[in-house]
Amino acid sequence: MARHSAHGKATSSKPSDHVVARAIDLTKIYGDADNQVIALNHVNVEFERGQMTAIMGPSGSGKSTLMHCMAGLDQPTSGKVIVEGLEVSAMNQRQLTKLRREQIGFIFQSFNLVPTLSAEENILLPLQIAKKPIDRAWFDQVVHVVGLEQRLKHRPSQLSGGQQQRVACARAMMARPSVIFADEPTGNLDSHSSREVLGFLKQSVKDYGQSIVMVTHDPRAASYADRVLVLADGNITQDLRHPSYDQILEVFADEGEETHA
Ligand SMILES: Nc1ncnc2c1ncn2[C@@H]1O[C@H](COP(=O)(O)OP(=O)(O)OP(=O)(O)O)[C@@H](O)[C@H]1O
Ligand SMILES: [Mg+2]
Repeated sequence: MARHSAHGKATSSKPSDHVVARAIDLTKIYGDADNQVIALNHVNVEFERGQMTAIMGPSGSGKSTLMHCMAGLDQPTSGKVIVEGLEVSAMNQRQLTKLRREQIGFIFQSFNLVPTLSAEENILLPLQIAKKPIDRAWFDQVVHVVGLEQRLKHRPSQLSGGQQQRVACARAMMARPSVIFADEPTGNLDSHSSREVLGFLKQSVKDYGQSIVMVTHDPRAASYADRVLVLADGNITQDLRHPSYDQILEVFADEGEETHA
């Protein structure tokens, strides 16, 4: 598959080249001996390049913990996290910072924009902090895809929730990361804005071969994905390839039962 081809991103052809990120026996335990929470329980998973993977599961099942460990924002208790063949779980802070700047994009439910900066400044901030050159053509393209051409000078408070999340998506894409981890990116959006943001994420998978792993509670959002993983109590309990909307609804129904049990 042609991925990032127009942008000259280095690609290698290692045997596991179709895998962009993986967790090996990943375990995360919070708390001390008397008060332990096993958030992730020996999770093994490979995330494929150029795909959108959705992660569903009841509240407290370990979805955010998995995203944070994968992105090097949290340290696993045991096991390994590998992104682009690099062992994230063995990195020091300096290496993690470099990894997050160059290989990983993160989109949060709460947008996490800097309120005093314009949309354009927010999108470019990570590159500026990293002292990386700004590829204006790529910036224009990303801004066009997220449909923010007319909003670049606006500050976050002057933008709708959906527009703010599109700024966050553009920011995540600017460095052309190997993989974007998104934790409920549409969790704070109305259905119209959700569709906009999901449409954009999907388009970046289709057009640029972007790899995306997205946590969601919304079956509609999950139906945009190529694959749906279900977490329960820190374990992956289902792995559905190209599930139909009805299959996803079944997962959601189970989730509801567990949540309200
Ligand atoms: N910093 C922490 N200290 C202690 N326990 C934590 C911490 N972070 C998460 N946990 C616990 O780990 C488990 C998994 O939490 P996590 O946030 O990954 O769940 P989640 O699937 O993202 O849930 P939600 O859908 O509500 O966002 C939960 O039982 C949670 O209480
Ligand atoms: Mg969460």
